[in-house]
Amino acid sequence: MPGIIEILDTTLRDGEQSPGVNLCPEEKLEIARNLEKLKVDIIEGGFPITSAGDLQAIKLISENVKEPVIAALARTRQEDIDTAWESLEKARRPRIHTFIATSDIHLKYKLNKTREEVLEMAEAGVKYAKKYVEDVQFSAEDASRSDLDFLCQVIERVIQAGATVINVPDTVGYQVPQQFGQLIERIREKVPATDKITLSVHCHNDLGLALANSLAAIEKGVTQVECTINGIGERAGNTAMEELVMTLATRADFYQYYSTNINQKNIFRTSRLVSKLTNMLVQANKAVVGRNAFAHESGIHQDGVLKEKSTYEIMKPESIGLLDNRIVLGKHSGRHAFKIKLKEMGFEKLSEEELQKLFERFKDLVDKRQIVSEHEMEAIIEEELRKVPEYYQLSYFQIFTGNKFRPTATVGIIREGELIEEAACGGGPVDAMYRTIDRITGIQTKLMDYSIKAVTGGRDALGEVNIRLTDNGNIISGRGVSTDILEASVKAYINAINKIVKKRGGLYGDDRGGEDNCQSRRQG
Ligand code: KIV
Ligand code: ZN
Repeated sequence: MPGIIEILDTTLRDGEQSPGVNLCPEEKLEIARNLEKLKVDIIEGGFPITSAGDLQAIKLISENVKEPVIAALARTRQEDIDTAWESLEKARRPRIHTFIATSDIHLKYKLNKTREEVLEMAEAGVKYAKKYVEDVQFSAEDASRSDLDFLCQVIERVIQAGATVINVPDTVGYQVPQQFGQLIERIREKVPATDKITLSVHCHNDLGLALANSLAAIEKGVTQVECTINGIGERAGNTAMEELVMTLATRADFYQYYSTNINQKNIFRTSRLVSKLTNMLVQANKAVVGRNAFAHESGIHQDGVLKEKSTYEIMKPESIGLLDNRIVLGKHSGRHAFKIKLKEMGFEKLSEEELQKLFERFKDLVDKRQIVSEHEMEAIIEEELRKVPEYYQLSYFQIFTGNKFRPTATVGIIREGELIEEAACGGGPVDAMYRTIDRITGIQTKLMDYSIKAVTGGRDALGEVNIRLTDNGNIISGRGVSTDILEASVKAYINAINKIVKKRGGLYGDDRGGEDNCQSRRQG
């Protein structure tokens, strides 16, 4: 009998634990709405005791996203569980997900507890959660490095206490597929009550085996798999949902007994949205959703694909919603056609002011490019709509560079209506500009990551620059888009600086930065 593998998406919880990722509640809601369209079974919205933002985000999701189960994470402490429930109260199908570590390493060095104490805490946590809600998931953190007998004892006890889902995490990504499959098999043998609840796995990708381990567990009878979009998550990340879903679908001949409820056509769009909002680029050769996943470079491959796609393509790009990069608007398109196109792309709730601003940027671009594609328009919209308050605004920049000169930049920035100009040299043109801006703002940051990509192909493509900076230990991201890569670089830097100023409470540390433009305008 074919079985459905339920997908618990933890992009908003474990995924958000990726270094440098910080989603605000409205961004989480936007992703949750997309996950609902993708038809995930369960959305884990966050770990509400850890931040007011997570609490607010899960409340928002619970109020607005009604199809999937909404889960909130909690340790076994009552305070955690109370807060998890507070976040879920409005959910149509709430789930409290409580966890405690069961490996001796964690007991000794992290929890400083005995096995007996952990057993009691696990049981008490589940019983306490049951007072609020029927659907209670229990995770034995570091299960894959736990003593099997003790792990089974804990699982048995929490099932008796009312847990409806038992999750077996490979928290540190240590397992290999055969052994992980055996672990699931042994748990099922030793705790027959697992047949009456949902058995789940949660795999990390430290050795690049998260997908293989999840598949091995499926073959041994688990019916829920925890995943994230683009495989983001703690350290090397989690099982990538798109990889799991497309493996089961593409190899249905082998996995004939298993499928998912996922609407595959929404995979690509969701992947791009998550990448954009988390500022985590998807590597070009990433399975299923990477830029090169459907690209054929060598002549022999191109020739084969032109004759018959199945020579080198095991999946159809359309099956994950990867449309051709259609040309959407040109030089002669008017404001009305522009508005209709944005509506088609899902941007409906735009104010007249926003529409005007976007139209002006579109006109600027067609002056240089003649035609604009959907991807390019999306990049501009995302940049405009996600603007943080502009404490610092770029007025102009000028670079003097060459292979025999030390690059020198002059930058003009507007702060509170006043033009401030400075100049500095640097190791390269971007470094020179960033040093100049540092002189103007007086903010000293450390650049951790700088990446540039073309939004579309062609010499005159729109360039998108993503950067990550550290400011007093906080990781801040910035993004800029322009046909000129130096302009995109400077915009990305100013975007990050404005976020820092906002975080510090404004230019004088006494405001909250005005309106938070994180608010999503894309229709749910
Ligand atoms: O990796 C892990 O063990 C977790 C649990 C909280 C499920 O993320
Ligand atoms: Zn995890």
